[in-house]
Amino acid sequence: MFHLGWFVGSGYGIQSWKGTWSGVGEKEWMKPDLYIDMAKSLERAGFDYMMFEDGLLVPDTYGGSMRTYLKGPLEAPRNDPTALIGILGHHTSRIGLIPTMSTSFYPPFMAARMIATLDHLCDGRAGANLVTSSNHGAAKNFGMEMHYEHDMRYRMAGEWIDLVTQLLESWDEDALVYDKSEGIFADHTKVHHIDFEGEFFKSRGPLNTPPGPQRTPVICQAGGSPAGRDFAAAHADTIVCVPLGLEAMKEYRADISRRMIAHGRDPHDCKVLYLVNPVLADTQGAAEELYEMKWAQRQSDAFLEQALSTMSYFSGIDFSQFDLDEPMPDLTGKVNGHQSSMARYAKDGANKTLRELALGQDVVESIKLVGTPESVAETMGEAMDFVGGDGFLMANDIDRRSVASIADGLVPALRKRGLVRGEYEHEHFKDNLKAF
Ligand SMILES: Cc1cc2nc3c(=O)[nH]c(=O)nc-3n(C[C@H](O)[C@H](O)[C@H](O)COP(=O)(O)O)c2cc1C
Repeated sequence: MFHLGWFVGSGYGIQSWKGTWSGVGEKEWMKPDLYIDMAKSLERAGFDYMMFEDGLLVPDTYGGSMRTYLKGPLEAPRNDPTALIGILGHHTSRIGLIPTMSTSFYPPFMAARMIATLDHLCDGRAGANLVTSSNHGAAKNFGMEMHYEHDMRYRMAGEWIDLVTQLLESWDEDALVYDKSEGIFADHTKVHHIDFEGEFFKSRGPLNTPPGPQRTPVICQAGGSPAGRDFAAAHADTIVCVPLGLEAMKEYRADISRRMIAHGRDPHDCKVLYLVNPVLADTQGAAEELYEMKWAQRQSDAFLEQALSTMSYFSGIDFSQFDLDEPMPDLTGKVNGHQSSMARYAKDGANKTLRELALGQDVVESIKLVGTPESVAETMGEAMDFVGGDGFLMANDIDRRSVASIADGLVPALRKRGLVRGEYEHEHFKDNLKAF
């Protein structure tokens, strides 16, 4: 069996507002209703988790302007996903819920408190997708001129998670005694100062929120650079990634396993999920046609500008300055943003013009899945057999129809083959993730 997650790639932001199946997306995007419907559908389908992307800026990297980002919209606006998780937890009972948190900008004490609070609200189903944030624009929102250097961000993240964990562990499991006869609510000898002093952070503790049912959350991570992979191997319970093709997927899992062993961990304790965008229809021909149609829609100037804006946002390099009909210039050593994305652009861009590279960027997925639920389920099973990975992360555009096509179309076909769970084994997120 393998695990399933859903990457809510626009975070708690605009999902769908002008597509054929958007409903009233432009009116309801700030409300929780679409996400509640989605969480219930994915829980019915036995998904391990929903993971919410997040960012902390309105970008202006492309052309030095916010125009393309707000017009799209792209990467903004974003509401705070932690607030949404609290509501989703109340409407569901088993699915794991992961908001993104920036280790560069979220003070560890506030993060630990938020995580503990969410885990209470979700009855032991809270996670945290730890990102280091990549854009100078986000750093400027926190009073800095420039963001911290790439590898230093990961060093800070390592200390951040140590401190957050110590704060969450600052209450012993039996600290809350509720002794009505003696009038003792909590035993102060079981709640501890931590007196943490690191290279970047300092905190006395204890946390003023007792830890939730899981005590520490499910840690999710997506860093693709050597520093990012190493941080993930040391701390993550699940990794989300997009290596392209079966061989690269297999290599990624093997690399994470090696790094985990070096950190003294059992490789089975971290589930590596690969990002995919299944295109599903009643017949193979109809699915292929749908795929071709989506592809054709991308071959426009508007899409080209969007793709270049996204590349600029990820890398921190303004791609509007380059000639579209020349190869991408060599930017080695100039990137403080996502180094793995930059490496992919360089690899994909070999023998292509920048225009061709950008127009190919939207279909970033580990394997192409196009067909009927039956044929796609078959392919997914074969892929996992070959790769030895732990599952898939759906990254489809979100509207109620697309969610139904996965939850009520693809998942039954996967269940028929015994590839995914028929029901949840446990109450808490971490236990379900580690159940197989
Ligand atoms: C599936 C997936 C989801 C991600 N979600 C976020 C996110 O919500 N916020 C963010 O700032 N970065 C996000 N990232 C970026 C990663 O955290 C990381 O910065 C990126 O993969 C580059 O890592 P590297 O610098 O180690 O190569 C995501 C990456 C992937 C592959």
